Parts: sequence; C-alpha cells; structure tokens
Amino acid sequence: MSVVDIHTHMYPPSYISLLQSRYDGAGSAVPYIRTFEDAPDDPRLIILPDEDAKGGRGRPVGPEYWSVEQKIAFMDTHNIETSVVSLANPWLDFLSGFESPTWAAKINDDFEAICASHSPRLFFFGVLPLSGPPLTIIAEIKRLQTLKYARGVVIGTTGLGRGLDDPEMGKIWEALEETNTFVFLHPHYGLPSSVYGSRASEYGHVLPLALGFPMETTIAVARMWISCVWDRYPGLQILLAHAGGAIPSLAGRLQSCLEHDGHLRGNGKEEGPKRTIQEVLKQNIYLDAVVYGEVGISAAVGLVGKDRVMFGTDHPFFPPLGADEKEWLSVRTNYDAIQEAFTDEQDQDAKGVLGGNAIKVLRLQVD
Ligand code: URA
Ligand code: ZN
Repeated sequence: MSVVDIHTHMYPPSYISLLQSRYDGAGSAVPYIRTFEDAPDDPRLIILPDEDAKGGRGRPVGPEYWSVEQKIAFMDTHNIETSVVSLANPWLDFLSGFESPTWAAKINDDFEAICASHSPRLFFFGVLPLSGPPLTIIAEIKRLQTLKYARGVVIGTTGLGRGLDDPEMGKIWEALEETNTFVFLHPHYGLPSSVYGSRASEYGHVLPLALGFPMETTIAVARMWISCVWDRYPGLQILLAHAGGAIPSLAGRLQSCLEHDGHLRGNGKEEGPKRTIQEVLKQNIYLDAVVYGEVGISAAVGLVGKDRVMFGTDHPFFPPLGADEKEWLSVRTNYDAIQEAFTDEQDQDAKGVLGGNAIKVLRLQVD
C-alpha cells in the first residue's frame, strides 16, 4: 500500500536566503530568520504575525526546512512513498507586486528541480505571485501546467489582499478552473491576537496554531461559499488544510444561518449560494487528514466522503521535542487516528485516505 503525504512543506534554499536577508536589526518586519546574541548558532524562524512581540523567538530552523535529503529521510522513516510538497507560509504574500512574479517563477522552478531529483517520489503544489498584476498570476498558473511535477497551487486566505470573496479574485478562480488546477488552501494569519488575551505570551504557539489557523480557514471558506464563488466556478476544486478547521462541525449551522437570514433570503429574496454548503463540500472540497484525532477524521469523511480525504503530516512543523525520537509523534497521531476511524471491513477506505485518493485525484504516476 502506498502512503502519500499531501500536506508537507519546504522552503527551498533561495527562499531561506530571502528570509535571512530580511532581518536587519530591531524593527525588521516578519517574516525573517535571525539569531540572538546569546545563541549565535541557533537560527530562528519568525513568520507568524506578532510572533516577534514580547521577546518571542519563533522556532528553530534547520535543514529539515530546506534539505530534500531530509525530506526523503523523513518519508522513509514514516513509510511515506510519495509527497506533494508545498512552499510553507507565508509564501510570497509579503513581497511587492514588482518582486513576487520573479520569485514565484524561481521557487516553482526550484521545486520542479527538487522533484525531478527524486522522481517519482516527489511532486509539488506551486506558488502564485498573488501580490502581482492578475495577468502575471494567470501566466504563472498556465506556466505551471508545463512543469512535469506540478500538481496544483498552494494559496493563503488573503487572495489579492482582500480575501477570497473579493470579486477581483474572479479572474484568478476562472483561470484555475479553466486549467483544472487543484488548489491547496492553507492558513497563516490566524485570528487577531487580542482574542488570546493578555496572557497569550505564556501559551507559546498553542492557541494560534491549534485554533487560530483552523478558524482562519473556516472563515475563508464560508466567505467563498456565501459570496457564490462555487456557483460561478463550479469546477473549482479546493483542498482545505487541517481537515477544513471547524467546517465539519459548523456546516449545518452555516447553512441554517443562511436560510434564516433576512438580508440574503428574506421577503422573497433568494440571494446567496444556490447549492447548500453540504453539497459544495461533497462536490468541490477535499480535506486533509491532519486533524490528530479519530472523531475529526470521521467528521471529515462524513462530510465530504471517503474519497475526498487525504493523509498529510505538516512536516517539518510539529517535530518531536526529544532530540532522539526518530518517529514523529505528530505523524503517529495522524496514522492512529485514521486507523481508529475505519473498521477492518473498511480497510479499502482507510487505504484511500492514506494514499489511493491522492494518487487518483492528483495523477501521481509519472511516465
Ligand atoms: N506552523 C506554521 O507556521 N505553518 C504550518 O504549516 C504549521 C505550523
Ligand atoms: Zn501546513
């Protein structure tokens, strides 16, 4: 049985250099990589909004972020045959519209070369220059079609700057739909840090990562649905990170709130999406299985169907805290969750989630 990891990140060396070059002393804008005077041999990755506030030191960054050899070693340790790698957040969001098109092409070419060097074990989701002019974004979507190992694109929730319900995103959705480009939607910005309260700095990254990230995805998808993106682009297929956040438990409530909303639906009006959120979920949405629990996997499968859930690891994030633990607890937890969510009779379904679905949907064979 082949295991496929569809949620696994890399920062190619050129991107690491870019992050290093952005640190220029106190007051530098995230994202960047820096060292501190008391630990000159411990480079730290500071990428999240407010991560540098109150003396925050981000997280250690080493070759697990950029080395393809380490990616392959991680895959071997965890019995993963194939990985679809993607640039990690915050992608190219922080670059100006002048810089991002060149960087997108460079990073995508880097990924193509990385995948070719370990064919057929690696494929990738490309990155788009979303701060650039729409024509350049569309040109990169089309160019990605010519790259042998590209299998879609990874995007964040900000779109062209105003979110994914922005009417200006129409041209981009249209190009993605027309080219049958699979979209991996991943969070980065979380929720405003004020929601975590005045003691937030005592809690490390737990609240932003466990709750802020998934809520960001939840809200982004709700905005896309309610603004009728999938009515206009019914072929658009989107994979949601972290099993779609709270979407599986809130889909019913979202639908009910729409049906009871006087502004959209009152007084004979029939505004808003034509298909229910549940229909859209079954026809346009894939969920990763990066949810660390049986109930989460069962909810994901119940909502979108067993053929639309796919295993992932989020490597190189969530490494073990102990230096000599070879197997990663985060990966083991996700494997266990999938095993527990399916009975012995449903073994074929579990295999689909572990790899079969991704192989089929993303055409992971090379000739
Ligand atoms: N933290 C991040 O910044 N990104 C991820 O993908 C996972 C954890
Ligand atoms: Zn991730």
